[in-house]
Amino acid sequence: MQRTVAPSMLSADFGHLERDTRMIDRSAAEWVHIDVMDGVFVPNISFGFPVMKPIRKATSKLLDVHLMIVAPEKYVARFVEAGADLVTFHLEATEDPAGCIARIREAGAKVGVSIKPATPVEALREWLPAVDLVLVMSVEPGFGGQSFIPGSLDRIRELRALATELGLATIIEVDGGISAANAREVFDAGAEVLVAGSAVFKAPDPEAEIRRILEA
Ligand code: DX5
Ligand code: ZN
Repeated sequence: MQRTVAPSMLSADFGHLERDTRMIDRSAAEWVHIDVMDGVFVPNISFGFPVMKPIRKATSKLLDVHLMIVAPEKYVARFVEAGADLVTFHLEATEDPAGCIARIREAGAKVGVSIKPATPVEALREWLPAVDLVLVMSVEPGFGGQSFIPGSLDRIRELRALATELGLATIIEVDGGISAANAREVFDAGAEVLVAGSAVFKAPDPEAEIRRILEA
């Protein structure tokens, strides 16, 4: 299975967004992960549309936008206009997953759906055929720098088995507490894309750290 790393801009230096995005652009990472938080769906506020601009300008890599906001259907199209290639919304954050999916597609981006650690994988069954990717949260969303929840490995395996049962090649992305120390077991469980925030940006050599995660 293909392996991809998506460094999370949440752990970048916001005073040097362009510099930090260019670092990812030069690196072996193929995606750039952008965490949008509204202070309602999660107990933290990160950033919104204006921050997308300097990031989009500084890279041609895939912009992977992770929306931790309520009623995402209201905003998904604007994130695509701002440069998102993939927009992921939380299943728990909307009463209208079908509307979210349709709006993201109409706007021309790939569609992802995410679940928090307590949401059963089975809740994804009806949505899997309509999405390109599932983002499995391996920490409670809201903050970088938390520890990987070990039970996430079984959830990734369960999701891979569900996708196979449905005959789908769903991309599985995993977010939270990823480092070179656990990347191998997460890839082996069936993930293709690993998000890494603090492991990358707190490393003395972030580009080398990205390679270590990819080659774990
Ligand atoms: C958490 C965010 C993550 C976060 C990961 O709510 O969705 O993307 O940046 O950070 P680390 O890799 O430090 O756990
Ligand atoms: Zn994220």
